This record gives sequence, structure tokens and C-alpha cells, in this order.
Amino acid sequence: MSKVLIFNGSPRKKGNTATLVAEFTKTLQETDTEFEVFNLHQMEIKPCQFCNWCVNNNALSCVQTDDMNELYPKLLESEKIVLASPIYWFTISAQLKLFIDRLYALHGENGYAFKKKKVGYILVYGDSNSEGSGVNNAIGTLKDIANYMQNEIVGTVHGSAYKIGDAEKNKQLLNDVYELGKKFRS
Ligand SMILES: Cc1cc2nc3c(=O)[nH]c(=O)nc-3n(C[C@H](O)[C@H](O)[C@H](O)COP(=O)(O)O)c2cc1C
Repeated sequence: MSKVLIFNGSPRKKGNTATLVAEFTKTLQETDTEFEVFNLHQMEIKPCQFCNWCVNNNALSCVQTDDMNELYPKLLESEKIVLASPIYWFTISAQLKLFIDRLYALHGENGYAFKKKKVGYILVYGDSNSEGSGVNNAIGTLKDIANYMQNEIVGTVHGSAYKIGDAEKNKQLLNDVYELGKKFRS
């Protein structure tokens, strides 16, 4: 069984996204499901240049040298991927968007090599309600991406937490994340 790969798009090491990722992995640990967490903010991920080297060479990797080189083989191997992000300016964080842009390189001769993977989303926003937060934009974007790449969305969890420590107090959100984790167990 391949590892569950979890990508955290928040810059705050002890932030709300990190708390929710920790809750998610706790569920996986209960059944010894293998996983790996990547903190995108700490990684060097350059913007996609749209040079099309990846597509022209059917490379399933990128001509640029950075931390994505390590991620492409892992992404190809894994069947389950979770994206976690704070809402920044009414959508996903720039750190997560940079990473997603670079998935363009996984467009091979037979469509997206990323297809058929199971994906899940964990989103957290500072607003007290989802309507004003912009989380629906993020969900719409992630849904469009999943449809385009033919991924199966296993679940989407979102909730309100603003300051560091707020996610720990949002029991409903923690519970929702825990339940999402169960769906990713081996
Ligand atoms: C640059 C920036 C933009 C933000 N934009 C929004 C927003 O559009 N909607 C919202 O509800 N919260 C917004 N927030 C609040 C964060 O989503 C919220 O504090 C979240 O818990 C941060 O996650 P973290 O603790 O993992 O960093 C923003 C925060 C920052 C720093």
C-alpha cells in the first residue's frame, strides 16, 4: 500500500492548518497507515514557467531544479493525497497554488499521470462563517482541478479558526478532520 501524502500550504509551523494535519495523521496512526507530511512553505518550489519541457518530453517531471524533483516520483507512486491550506484572500494559499501549478508536469501522453488518485481537502479560515470567508472559492477551484485530473474527491473538511490555537478549540472541525482521516486509512 502506498503512503498517504499530505501537503500543508500554511507558513505557520504551529498554526491551525498544522493542528488539523496532526489530527488527521492521528487517525492514520491508529491503523499504522503510512503517511508523509510536506510543509510546502519550507520547501523550494519555483513557479511553473510554462516552457512545456515536461509535455514535449513526456517527462512527468520538470526541467527546473528544486524540491519538486523529490516530490514527482512520490506523487506518481501514491494513491492518496491530501491538500491542507489556510484561506488567504478568499482562496487557497500561494504556497499551495505554486505546488498545484507544478503538477502540470504530470501531464503525459495518456493524459494526467495523476488521474484516479484519491484526494481530500482540509481548509481553515479566520472568518466566523464560511460564506464570507472565501472557502467556497477554494472548494470550487479544488473541485475543478480534481475533475480535470480525474481524481476522486474522498472528502472536504473546512471550518473557522483564526489565531494560533483556535483550531484546537473548534471541536466540530477537529472531529470532521478525524472522520476524514478514517477514509484515508489502509
Ligand atoms: C494574508 C492572509 C489572508 C487571509 N485571508 C483570509 C480570507 O480571505 N478569509 C478568511 O476567512 N480568513 C483569512 N485569513 C485568516 C486565515 O485563514 C486564518 O487565520 C487561518 O487559521 C490561518 O491558518 P494557519 O494558522 O494555518 O496559518 C487570512 C490570513 C492571512 C495571513
